[in-house]
Amino acid sequence: MNDAPREELKQPRFEKNFTEFIGIRDDGHLGVEARDCVELAETFGTPLYVVSENQFRHNYRQFRDAFVRHYPNVEVMYSNKAMNGPALRHVMNQEGAGGDCFGENELYIALLAGRTPGSMVLNGSNKTPHEIEVAVLNGVCINIDAMGELDLIDETARRLGRDADVGIRVKLELKPLGKRFATQMHGPGSLSDQARNHKWGMPLDQTLELVKRIEAAPHLRFQELNYHLSRMDNITDDFVVMAREMVEWAAAVKRETGVSVPTLDLGGGWAQGRPEKTGPHGEDDVDTPSFEEYAKTVCTAVKDACGAHGLDLPGLKFEVGRSLIGSAVVALGRVGATKEWPEYAKSWVNLDLSTNHLSPVAEGWHYHVVVANKANAHAAGPVDVVGPLCSPDNLAFDRPLPSMDAGDIVAFLDAGAYTESRAANFNAQLRPAAVLVSGDDADVITEREQLRDVMGRFRVPSRVLNLSFGRT
Ligand SMILES: Cc1ncc(COP(=O)(O)O)c(C=O)c1O
Repeated sequence: MNDAPREELKQPRFEKNFTEFIGIRDDGHLGVEARDCVELAETFGTPLYVVSENQFRHNYRQFRDAFVRHYPNVEVMYSNKAMNGPALRHVMNQEGAGGDCFGENELYIALLAGRTPGSMVLNGSNKTPHEIEVAVLNGVCINIDAMGELDLIDETARRLGRDADVGIRVKLELKPLGKRFATQMHGPGSLSDQARNHKWGMPLDQTLELVKRIEAAPHLRFQELNYHLSRMDNITDDFVVMAREMVEWAAAVKRETGVSVPTLDLGGGWAQGRPEKTGPHGEDDVDTPSFEEYAKTVCTAVKDACGAHGLDLPGLKFEVGRSLIGSAVVALGRVGATKEWPEYAKSWVNLDLSTNHLSPVAEGWHYHVVVANKANAHAAGPVDVVGPLCSPDNLAFDRPLPSMDAGDIVAFLDAGAYTESRAANFNAQLRPAAVLVSGDDADVITEREQLRDVMGRFRVPSRVLNLSFGRT
């Protein structure tokens, strides 16, 4: 359990709150903590990600406290992939959070921020020998996701003279979800089809085989079974199905190998709603379960299932991404060209922010839009907010928003999860800067990309140059 000392977080006062630390100020501007988004856009430029440090801390505490209230042995990790970077990792370290790292570079970034009082896990379906070596050397638990990985970890641990912590990513079948078709999934089919078809995880017989081999290997220590229910819906019962099946697998491991599974790592995928809606197709709204509701329902399911199978309670771990960082970030863009087509009641507002920077939009994610310099203004009519790319680049379609002019600043709320970490360079567009705001302080944590960063990677082979410029 994480028990780092924590200072109380001082909430700012807003005329209207969107979250605890983001809201509309008395001057009608959007504020992130004590800073005005309009002034942040002037100071740091646009497009810009603005991270509220205290909202991030607050979300973590809310999630952790909810699960700690309902279960005796809980560890909440931050899923670094949601928004990476050593500054955010430091913030999570200070909160006592471990981290889920996916791949060598995420592991490297997380390690740069120092060991955490909590644990780290390394996930990934195709881990490299070097990645495994780094994890073993640093005592990071490796979740095995292929039969051959076990030998690689074992050899590495022996060669380095270290013990290696290992878990197993499992392939649940989720049969009760065979007729559940959710809003955003990894391909077609029901949740159960998805679970079967995606690449992650080891089937039950292979999991049992792995546990036996881990137990027989003197350098390996079995730590956890891991599953991640991805982003499906915000329906608590889906998570209950997953949690129950995890306990069934722990019971099978106990029965077939005699080994007690120390920890069940239940991954991420938890939703966080807002009255103005967010998430896939705006379905995360006031009806989204609270962390408290998730925690109560899922922890009760785990306890009941353990009771039914006669198992001691395992530890619980979570790898939480978007519900911790999502609502802590606003993405800012500046209005450039505007266009009207009165016959069809169409209008477009172009920003310098694009779907390169808010890529979940392409998967149907809805972001609440606020005009940061007139956050209280009445809507003038529906407008499409678009980016400058050669694709339709539609960031918000047909939204009732105040009339806008060049220079206005438009903010997208809940923009933390998988935006910066998946930002792209389509049309050779440069990726935005990110600033971390805490009270009055605002500091760059990601530098704005420069043309040299994009151009510098390109090469022209001399034979191609020769055809352009060489003598014939
Ligand atoms: C293995 C694993 N754990 C945790 C997460 C975090 O999920 P979320 O951001 O939905 O909480 C992901 C996201 O892709 C993941 O792949």
